[in-house]
Amino acid sequence: MNPLDFTVEELDSLFDLADDIQKEPEKYAHICEGKKLATCFYEPSTRTRLSFETAMLNLGGKVIGFSDAASSSASKGESVSDTIRVISCFADICAMRHPKEGAPMVAAGRSSIPVINAGDGGHQHPTQTLTDLLTIRSLKGRLNDFTIGLCGDLKFGRTVHSLVNALIRYENVRFVFISPEELKIPSYLRSTLLDKGIEFEEVIRLEDVLPKLDLLYMTRVQRERFFNEEDYVRLKDFYVLNKEKMELAPQDMLVLHPLPRVNEISVEVDDDPRAVYFKQVQYGVYVRMALILRLLELA
Ligand code: NCD
Repeated sequence: MNPLDFTVEELDSLFDLADDIQKEPEKYAHICEGKKLATCFYEPSTRTRLSFETAMLNLGGKVIGFSDAASSSASKGESVSDTIRVISCFADICAMRHPKEGAPMVAAGRSSIPVINAGDGGHQHPTQTLTDLLTIRSLKGRLNDFTIGLCGDLKFGRTVHSLVNALIRYENVRFVFISPEELKIPSYLRSTLLDKGIEFEEVIRLEDVLPKLDLLYMTRVQRERFFNEEDYVRLKDFYVLNKEKMELAPQDMLVLHPLPRVNEISVEVDDDPRAVYFKQVQYGVYVRMALILRLLELA
């Protein structure tokens, strides 16, 4: 499952469902009774896996799964295609995270149950994007007409790639990519933006662009995707958003972050009302509840 599998209208209706879940959770508390979600996580995760599990439990369903490849048959050499055929006999829906790009797509092709991509290597993270979009829609009231700055590891950050791909379908969204030279957006993404005539700029200094942003999406430098530790150490603290820098930002600019945060946002920013990254986590549960219901055709 990719957010681009849904049309913009289908996404709107998914977010309406998430809004309704937020307003009246008890209406949905038993809807998945008798259903099981399998979480197949071949890579570490805290929030995405627990968010999926919470979503299913909130809907009255049950959860099975594994949270690291070493404790699954992958360690014996089983392919993802075989694993998913087995999981299909146990569960009604599966959320899969895998270090190999495209692995959840391969699994979906062999599966008789819906397989949700919960992050594949440095490629995509569609349900984080649903979370980000619902957060923006709920707190800004719209998904068009804004300037968004994406800052940090734009090369390996899969949440950035998914979010940009989703936002280019909305009207009048301008992008400011803020990264060191080595961590710029992948060239395929740049080509997509150029082909579609979408307004964007690539800069190094965060301070220079802060005053013009409606949204700032901070990301951590993705240590696990670096080939050598020295490069990581050199780049990891390239950006640190602190109180002083927040003074340069508009009063209604929102700061998002997919989390986990390392050093890129100083904890002193957490109390700023513009910092919404912990609220984002809550929206992630609502949107995953809505997604499970849609994919199981229960709402
Ligand atoms: C992100 C990921 O896994 O890509 N985390 C998450 O799922 N919220 C971001 C990250 O790990 O930096």
